[in-house]
Amino acid sequence: MTRVLVLNGPNLGRLGVREPEIYGADTLDDLVAAAGGWGSELGLDVDARQTDDESQIVSWLHEAVDTRSHVVLNPAAFTHYSYALRDAAAQVTTSGLLLVEVHLSNPHTRESFRHYSVVSGVATGTIAGFGFGSYRLALDAIAARLA
Ligand code: DQA
Repeated sequence: MTRVLVLNGPNLGRLGVREPEIYGADTLDDLVAAAGGWGSELGLDVDARQTDDESQIVSWLHEAVDTRSHVVLNPAAFTHYSYALRDAAAQVTTSGLLLVEVHLSNPHTRESFRHYSVVSGVATGTIAGFGFGSYRLALDAIAARLA
């Protein structure tokens, strides 16, 4: 089965507690369960993870390349400044794998520092603003591209 790593960056472990008016009331565990279920429906083997640690996400992106896994990535705040993450994400897409950047909120409607993503330029595509639905749409897009 096609493997997809669903990688979540800093503070996303605080979903449900963190600014629920922006990110909703559901928790990371709810997101992990939902993503796994959507993956099963689509014939994708979803492995969802979260870390607050930049080097950990870089390592997971290297793992995606080495294991030929596609990626759904919510880089969270790293979106806006982490060139290390961008360089690791570029390795995924230049190796022929899909990497969909996702955001729960729509960063373009928020503070100006959120308007720029260093990751978007190397991603296969970006989906933002649909809450957990952003992840569902990303998995749909991966399944459709592979069909
Ligand atoms: C986010 C948007 C980012 O600007 C923010 O730093 C996050 C979450 C989102 O999912 O909407 O932590 O990536």
